[in-house]
Amino acid sequence: MNKLLCCALVFLDLSIKWTTQETFPPKYLHYDPETSRQLMCDKCPPGTFLKQHCTARRKTVCAPCPDHYYTDTWHSSDECLYCTPVCKELQYVKQECSRTHNRVCECEEGRYLELEFCLKHRSCPPGFGVLQVGTPERNTVCKRCPDGFFSNETSSKAPCRKHTNCSAFGLLLTQKGNSTHDNICSGSSESTQKCGIDVTLCEEAFFRFAVPTKFTPNWLSILVDSLPGTKVNAESIERIKRRHSSQEQTFQLLKLWKHQNKDQDMVKKIIQDIDLCESSVQRHIGHANLTFEQLRRLMESLPGKKVTTEDIEKTVKACKSSEQILKLLSLWRIKNGDQDTLKGLMHALKHLKTYHFPKTVTQSLKKIIRFLHSFTMYRLYQKLFLEMIGNQVQSVKISCL
Ligand SMILES: *[C@@H]1O[C@H](CO)[C@@H](O)[C@H](O)[C@H]1NC(C)=O
Ligand SMILES: *[C@@H]1O[C@H](CO)[C@@H](O)[C@H](O)[C@H]1NC(C)=O
Ligand SMILES: *[C@@H]1O[C@H](CO)[C@@H](O)[C@H](O)[C@H]1NC(C)=O
Ligand SMILES: *[C@@H]1O[C@H](CO)[C@@H](O)[C@H](O)[C@H]1NC(C)=O
Repeated sequence: MNKLLCCALVFLDLSIKWTTQETFPPKYLHYDPETSRQLMCDKCPPGTFLKQHCTARRKTVCAPCPDHYYTDTWHSSDECLYCTPVCKELQYVKQECSRTHNRVCECEEGRYLELEFCLKHRSCPPGFGVLQVGTPERNTVCKRCPDGFFSNETSSKAPCRKHTNCSAFGLLLTQKGNSTHDNICSGSSESTQKCGIDVTLCEEAFFRFAVPTKFTPNWLSILVDSLPGTKVNAESIERIKRRHSSQEQTFQLLKLWKHQNKDQDMVKKIIQDIDLCESSVQRHIGHANLTFEQLRRLMESLPGKKVTTEDIEKTVKACKSSEQILKLLSLWRIKNGDQDTLKGLMHALKHLKTYHFPKTVTQSLKKIIRFLHSFTMYRLYQKLFLEMIGNQVQSVKISCL
């Protein structure tokens, strides 16, 4: 009996190989007791079970699987298989049981099947990034971040990231990164140079009274001669003349002079006051975070030649949000030759009313105008400055005597 079954199985096995290669529908060998012959019967298709073997006169009879049972291959079994009744813990039903398909269970999001359990996907620690994201069947694959890359987080999703290229942003590399830390770029010198607010609102306010109402060709030289301390050299003056419009020349000259004499007591005081002024301006406007559209509106509402959309785009890229308005105002001033930024700003504020411009920003701008216009401050600087120039003139006179 056992031997017979064994032989039948070998036969069956051979027949499967033979039938799957050669025929459709696939066949199986069946011993027909009526005729005492081996018959080739059709197998039953998925979704059915074998009800009656074929005979010499009749084909195989198959019947549909009952509810909760399935077969998913061509076969010659007289039973369907019972569908998996419930999914495991932490699994959900991906596909319900049907006659042709067992119920498919899958681990929940973020887990994969290991033996019988849905385990959490591995998180890659700092210094390692995700090479292959985990699937319901497979754990996350991590890899150590290679040179030039880093990962500073524990994550099952994040790949290694490239170190920030400081020079590409016009910044200086101050600390080289490693596998767990990004490069650190210095924001200060290079970045402000890149944003490049050359003459600030405060410097403009302070230097403005030195701008003559009528420009004469030798005005700049007269101013240079009047200034105490180290003189700005002729080359620099020529360069300033070449590059800047008349009002701007005064600002640039005073800025250069201020820089060259920054260790002199008189100038130290001026620098201190300008610094104070600037931190006050920053306090008022530094938090304003305007959208591109709002910056465009603000520039649109200034009189005279307009700062272009392209300039605004560049400014937004190069400058921190706290510097953007100030940079755009300085661009406007340079574009408009001898205009007074504060006057332009006052004009703009009147027109901004028609736009839905953030009230906090317009109020901040008004405060800045008031602050910079404050009579006392103006007088203070004027006095300081005239004193300096006066002393100089006197000392010139004395030395001439
Ligand atoms: C990771 O580095 C990025 C880029 O340098 C930084 O923005 C982020 O705050 C860092 N995250 C942590 C958790 O340190
Ligand atoms: C950084 O950017 C600069 C300019 O875009 C480029 O020349 C340089 O090769 C970059 N460096 C790295 C390490 O990618
Ligand atoms: C990476 O650099 C940081 C400081 O930038 C340091 O604290 C850390 O130990 C370094 N890690 C490795 C693996 O060298
Ligand atoms: C400015 O606003 C934008 C969106 O309007 C935001 O993405 C950004 O983080 C803000 N920046 C600052 C410094 O508040």
